[in-house]
Amino acid sequence: MVNLGVSIGELKLKNPVIAASGTFGFGREMEKYYDLSNIGGISSKGLTIKPRLGNDVPRVAECDAGMLNSVGLQNPGIEYFIEHELPHMLSYGCVVIANIAGHQFEEYADMAKLLDKTDVDAIELNLSCPNVSSGCMAFGSDASMIRAVTESVKTVTNKPVWVKLTPNVTSVSEMALAAQDGGADAVSLINTLLGMVIDIETRRPVLKNNAGGYSGPGVKPVAVRMVNEVFNSVDIPVIGMGGIMNAADALEFMIAGACAVQVGTANLVIPTACNDIVISMEEWAQNHEVEEISSLTGCLRRW
Ligand code: FUM
Repeated sequence: MVNLGVSIGELKLKNPVIAASGTFGFGREMEKYYDLSNIGGISSKGLTIKPRLGNDVPRVAECDAGMLNSVGLQNPGIEYFIEHELPHMLSYGCVVIANIAGHQFEEYADMAKLLDKTDVDAIELNLSCPNVSSGCMAFGSDASMIRAVTESVKTVTNKPVWVKLTPNVTSVSEMALAAQDGGADAVSLINTLLGMVIDIETRRPVLKNNAGGYSGPGVKPVAVRMVNEVFNSVDIPVIGMGGIMNAADALEFMIAGACAVQVGTANLVIPTACNDIVISMEEWAQNHEVEEISSLTGCLRRW
């Protein structure tokens, strides 16, 4: 028997596989494919104070080894989420994380205050979406802002607070340390890499917004390196993501230092990806006589 259970600080998950924000909605589209209680958790689509329609189309583009998105945080707003989506998400029987995205500094704490009164299991601060004109990645590329936003949220909630980091910075470990200094309970990384695709016939960017966030298998080596660097820099748990398509990819992140993983773009290709990864991870652990999956976290051997 393999114990797939993991802890992210005080929070316990039945297994390390979390559906990443923005690739799973609020679960409704996915619940018909498998029993969502099989996975460790779901991070909601990025939530804002007010509802948003998102950016103009085209806002997704396929490219080598992945895709670009410039969705622009389309969501129904935090109040609608709390009233109409969260109760249903909580019925799935896995951990539920609210991913919140602010345009203004104060909006993070304002949303966290509302979430504090709910049964949501954790709050993930989206300091990394590259597709909006203010807040998010603009805050997440400035260590002092990361610290200040995290502190402001920690003063209004006792829920675990995770900070989702952008790779579009010079030093990701500096940003992770700032989150830790601000009181973050965990960091999650990486969000998407800023990229661009050009149609050579029209000579225009494929995305209406010109640039967008690159995700999928192509980003995985970058993400694994960043997870390992951050794991070696901070004392708080690290949640790894970036191009995870199968159990082997997920295990690579755990060996690099992740205590749990988030699976994103894979959900758009194979709707059952998270469930498939949990099953294959268990098989791998059995075959390798790993009794506790959590024992893999940070077990990287040095040359
Ligand atoms: O554009 C978007 O909605 C992307 C969000 C994110 O990267 O967090």
